[in-house]
Amino acid sequence: MDQAQIKAWIDALGIPALFVADDTRIIAANDLAISVYNLNVAGLIYSAALRQPAAIEAIHACLEYHKIQTARIHHTENCTDTVFDLRCAYIDKGLRGVLITLKDLTDEGKNTQLHRDFVANVSHELRTPLTAISGFIETLQGSAKKDEEALDRFLGMMARQSARMDRLVSDLLSLSRIEAQERQRPSDTVYLHDLLATVIESYKAQDVEIISQLNAHDHAVQADADQLHQVFSNLIENAVKYGQAGAPITVTTKNVACDARLRVPAIRMSVCDTGAGIDPIHLPRLTERFYRIDGHRSREKGGTGLGLAIAKHIISRHRGRLEIKSKISQGSEFTAIIPTR
Ligand SMILES: Nc1ncnc2c1ncn2[C@@H]1O[C@H](COP(=O)(O)OP(=O)(O)OP(=O)(O)O)[C@@H](O)[C@H]1O
Ligand SMILES: [Mg+2]
Repeated sequence: MDQAQIKAWIDALGIPALFVADDTRIIAANDLAISVYNLNVAGLIYSAALRQPAAIEAIHACLEYHKIQTARIHHTENCTDTVFDLRCAYIDKGLRGVLITLKDLTDEGKNTQLHRDFVANVSHELRTPLTAISGFIETLQGSAKKDEEALDRFLGMMARQSARMDRLVSDLLSLSRIEAQERQRPSDTVYLHDLLATVIESYKAQDVEIISQLNAHDHAVQADADQLHQVFSNLIENAVKYGQAGAPITVTTKNVACDARLRVPAIRMSVCDTGAGIDPIHLPRLTERFYRIDGHRSREKGGTGLGLAIAKHIISRHRGRLEIKSKISQGSEFTAIIPTR
């Protein structure tokens, strides 16, 4: 299929659609897409033309992994906010590239399928500890009634399960708060190195070995300090949980004059571990809610599988992006890239 044929196909679609070729240029956009962006984006590099980090992330991942990507984007044009479900699909027949379609959700209220999946996941996650607690109660009411040693053991296990439910509920609340704030720009003035140093200190106090190389020029940015604290805590905690036991974790910062994808000056803050690494097939899905590589291992370690989903939302609220690089049996590097202006 050539460029003219692609244009004819997407013109016929009836929803906003774009085609980004392998060289990252938008080679076709239908009228509906042009009216969404209020700009003829055809001919431009996608990362410069489309301003939402979530859209740029999804297209980048689709170009890189050739897998379907979806993202929820909030678009503001002429003071009107519109919510779209963006879908990217890779086409490798004829002209190679990504077909992007936008589905307007503004009038649909809650996106029903996503909502249903989410409720099903939450119910499943809550049911597991709840079932365990019910089981312990039954045992304590029956066979273990007079067994003091068993009583102690079971109460300990019940406490762990209820702590897990508590963590899950707090993570869910935190996720919904962040989603509600997505269109509100953060307003605290935050020195990023100071904040990072506080997180590092709190882990060092728990005997985690961290090599900190905070080499960047520190920047005061408009940010939400508590939320960024949550991002770095999760990245360091993940490096501890899934990295190599006992090996140090390295935290580095670096300034970039212009981030290749955000196209603004930024600070890159990375957390590196030397653990088992992550198979590339998991990388595109790692920031999905409840996505875990090894669900059993994560749950054992008290994980809810929401940490990276929350981190991604927070970083996107700061107009930044999360980069994940990993090499099997060498380790992983998670980098939060935050614009400094
Ligand atoms: N540094 C890492 N090395 C290897 N795998 C990782 C690393 N960080 C995250 N992962 C994988 O990504 C999954 C999702 O991470 P995420 O932080 O979202 O959830 P979690 O750590 O399991 O739970 P929570 O953050 O809620 O405690 C993890 O379950 C793990 O499989
Ligand atoms: Mg985590």
